[in-house]
Amino acid sequence: MTSSTPEYTPRPGWRTRFGMGCRCLLLFLPLPARWKVRIYYTVFTHFFNIMCEGKGLFNYGQEPLCRDTAETLPRPGKWLDVGCGVGGPALLLAKENPDVTIVGLNITLHQVHLARERCGADGLSERVEFVHGDASGMPFEKGDLFDGLYAIETAFHFPDKPGFAREAHRVLKPGARFAMADMIREDRDVPWVHRWFGRVFHGWLGVLRMYTVPQWKRELGAAGFSEIETKDVSATALRDGLTLANSQILKQDPVLRTRFPRWVIRAIYWGNDFILRDIDRQPMRYVLVTAKA
Ligand SMILES: C[S@@+](CC[C@H](N)C(=O)[O-])C[C@H]1O[C@@H](n2cnc3c(N)ncnc32)[C@H](O)[C@@H]1O
Repeated sequence: MTSSTPEYTPRPGWRTRFGMGCRCLLLFLPLPARWKVRIYYTVFTHFFNIMCEGKGLFNYGQEPLCRDTAETLPRPGKWLDVGCGVGGPALLLAKENPDVTIVGLNITLHQVHLARERCGADGLSERVEFVHGDASGMPFEKGDLFDGLYAIETAFHFPDKPGFAREAHRVLKPGARFAMADMIREDRDVPWVHRWFGRVFHGWLGVLRMYTVPQWKRELGAAGFSEIETKDVSATALRDGLTLANSQILKQDPVLRTRFPRWVIRAIYWGNDFILRDIDRQPMRYVLVTAKA
């Protein structure tokens, strides 16, 4: 068994798999959104990290999506990464943009610890830091204002999206840039099986209520943003992303199996495959949203 994720050397054993399986079953219950996200990332941080071979990029679009999202942010500048995962995007962007400093914010405490470890190992602690907190109630004061904010594949988890829009506007300097890459819901007639599947699969994965593009535009506008623009990136971020995710699952299957019961690995593979087979008739898209504070 070969793995390029030495920092996550799996602890094989039925107890680990049983524990993961129980947590995964818990996710089928209609729990409060914040509990779901917490349980979800206790389980799936390992899953994603094995899948992306330790790069710490927990999004379907990987490096190209991170770069596209940050493209409109000012350089030099101080950026905020909302829902920063284990720090992969912030560390990648800090390496590629030596004139920026980045603060990563995340509600999942153990991911914040992992992000700090990666940051220290990459020697970027001078320019990148990670803090624990909620996107809808950010732990920043007036003196902390940012030149740019990005949020990659995270806002679909937020139970309070209007609160996130208000907080994003509050922590940005006037005229600063906002950029978000996320899955959105599309209100159109789709086969009932896709609508039903979307609810069950996404509910299980901690995504409880996606917004449509008009809803995002309304909330961002109400929060004070202007020049709100959206770009559909489904072909790369969703279609290519799901294809890549499934090839990674197949490649990493021997490592995944030491930590997760087979049914969890199969359910995720099968779920991705189900979406891919009829991707043009899914009630969701992947968009980039940019705006000015
Ligand atoms: C799919 S991961 C994406 C992580 C990262 N942006 C990346 O691309 O690698 C979603 C992240 O959002 C975080 N998150 C979920 N709800 C949050 C909230 N209310 N406030 C801050 N972070 C949150 C999760 O802990 C997780 O790290």
